[in-house]
Amino acid sequence: MLKFIHITDTHLVEQGHALYGLDPAKRLARCLDSVIQDHADAKLCVVTGDLAHVGHRDAYRQLSEQLARLPMPVLPILGNHDNRANFREFFPQVQTDTNGFVQYEAPIGEYRGIFLDTNEPGVSHGVLCEKRAQWLADRLAEDDRPVLLFMHHPAFPLGIPSMDRIALLETGPFQAALQGHTQRIRHLFFGHIHRPIFGSWRGIPFSTMRGTNHQVALRLDETTNVPGSHEPPQYSVVLLQEESVTVHVHDFLDRSDRFWLGE
Ligand SMILES: [Fe+2]
Repeated sequence: MLKFIHITDTHLVEQGHALYGLDPAKRLARCLDSVIQDHADAKLCVVTGDLAHVGHRDAYRQLSEQLARLPMPVLPILGNHDNRANFREFFPQVQTDTNGFVQYEAPIGEYRGIFLDTNEPGVSHGVLCEKRAQWLADRLAEDDRPVLLFMHHPAFPLGIPSMDRIALLETGPFQAALQGHTQRIRHLFFGHIHRPIFGSWRGIPFSTMRGTNHQVALRLDETTNVPGSHEPPQYSVVLLQEESVTVHVHDFLDRSDRFWLGE
C-alpha cells in the first residue's frame, strides 16, 4: 500500500498578516505538524493550488520554508490565486512544460501522477488552453498505465452556483485530451472549492476537501457572492493499492475526545 497526503488552498499571505481573521501560515504549520506526527511514512505530499492568496513573493518564501519540514517530496500546482513567476522563483525544482506552464508528471507507485496548470492571470476561473491540453493528450498517449490526475479547478459544475461560475470554463480542449482515456484515470484530485466533496464525473471518481485556512459554506441557493465560513480545516490521506484508491479526510485541528468503542 502506498500512502500520500493531499493538501489544498493554503492561501498564504505576507508574514504576520491575517486573512479572514485567521493566520494562514499558522494554520499550515498545524497541518504540517499533524502530517509529520501521524503520516511521516507518506511517500509524497500534493498541494493542489491557491498556495498564496494574492501570489505574493513572501507567501511563496514562507511556503517553501514550511514545506521543507516535511520528510517526503512535495508536488505543488497552481490555483487561480497564484502567481506563476513568483512561484517559480521559490520553487525552481518544480518542473514545467515546454511552454512554461507548471505541468508535469511524477510516478506514484504503479500509477502515473499527472499535474495540470489551470491558472490564468487576472481571472478566477480555470483555463486549460489548447497548448496545456495538448501536453495532457501527449502524456496520455504515451502508454496505458493507470493515471491519478491533479488540478486546481474542477472541470464540471458541483451544484454550488457561486463556485460553478469560476470552475474550469471552456472545457473543450480538456475533454478532447481525455477522449478515450477516461477509464484509465482512477481518480481526479482538485481544490478550489474549500469543501469536502466526493463523486464521479464521466465515470472518473473525484475528491476535494476544505483548505487549511478559510472555507466555503454549503449554500446551494447563492448565485453571486461566495459564502465564506470558518468550518474546520482539513487535509486528506490517500491510500493506493492496485485495485483501490481510498481517500481519508482529516480535520487536523479537531481535539474532541478519543475513546474505545468496545465490542
Ligand atoms: Fe482557494
